Amino acid sequence: MATLPPPPAFGDPLPVTASPETVSFLARRRSASALTLSAPGPSPDQLDAILTLAARSPDHGKLAPWRFIVLDGPAKASFVDGLDAIAATRTDAAKAQAKLGKIRVPPLTIAIVSKTVAGEIPAWEQELSAGAVCAILTIAAQAMGYGANWITDWYAYDADAIRLLGLDGSEKVAGFVQIGTPTEAPLERVRPAMDKIVTRWTA
Ligand SMILES: Cc1cc2nc3c(=O)[nH]c(=O)nc-3n(C[C@H](O)[C@H](O)[C@H](O)COP(=O)(O)O)c2cc1C
Repeated sequence: MATLPPPPAFGDPLPVTASPETVSFLARRRSASALTLSAPGPSPDQLDAILTLAARSPDHGKLAPWRFIVLDGPAKASFVDGLDAIAATRTDAAKAQAKLGKIRVPPLTIAIVSKTVAGEIPAWEQELSAGAVCAILTIAAQAMGYGANWITDWYAYDADAIRLLGLDGSEKVAGFVQIGTPTEAPLERVRPAMDKIVTRWTA
């Protein structure tokens, strides 16, 4: 499954339509462990579709304060080798290197980069939008039948790793979404008790 419907033109009416299939999908959706994600990953058309769907995320001010970096094939392997070399210089080298399995194993990684711009829209809201992009990208990949997992790990925060990825000083990594075909089904995890997190405001 790859083909998207024709994109709506600017100003087209887009009536809200119920999607019971989406509701059922969300009710059982689960991220797969990155270490279980193997080939095949999405086809080029599916990758385009996943990125296009993620770029339709809510975005106050229509700033698109985020961008994508696709990592796959030999370039991804070389990026992970670079991370490994950075990890080797750290005091907790063994631990940092062990964490790299989650990015080395999956066939496709998409880095979502947050870049806030000064102006009327608070930076917090722009960063929340980058988080929404990560979530919708993850869900889009899962809806196409792939396993996906939104991770950060040390290399989302390490200055040398960020430079290796090609970010400028004003950009941050919102997430690395790992995508592939799961070799085992993820198991349901603990979910919050709804009565602990939902209240009704009363005057
Ligand atoms: C911002 C963010 C960063 C995360 N970073 C990591 C990480 O570095 N390593 C990890 O194992 N899981 C990380 N997770 C958690 C995984 O995404 C986790 O598998 C997922 O939340 C499982 O929930 P789900 O099955 O409901 O999607 C992160 C989640 C978020 C939202």
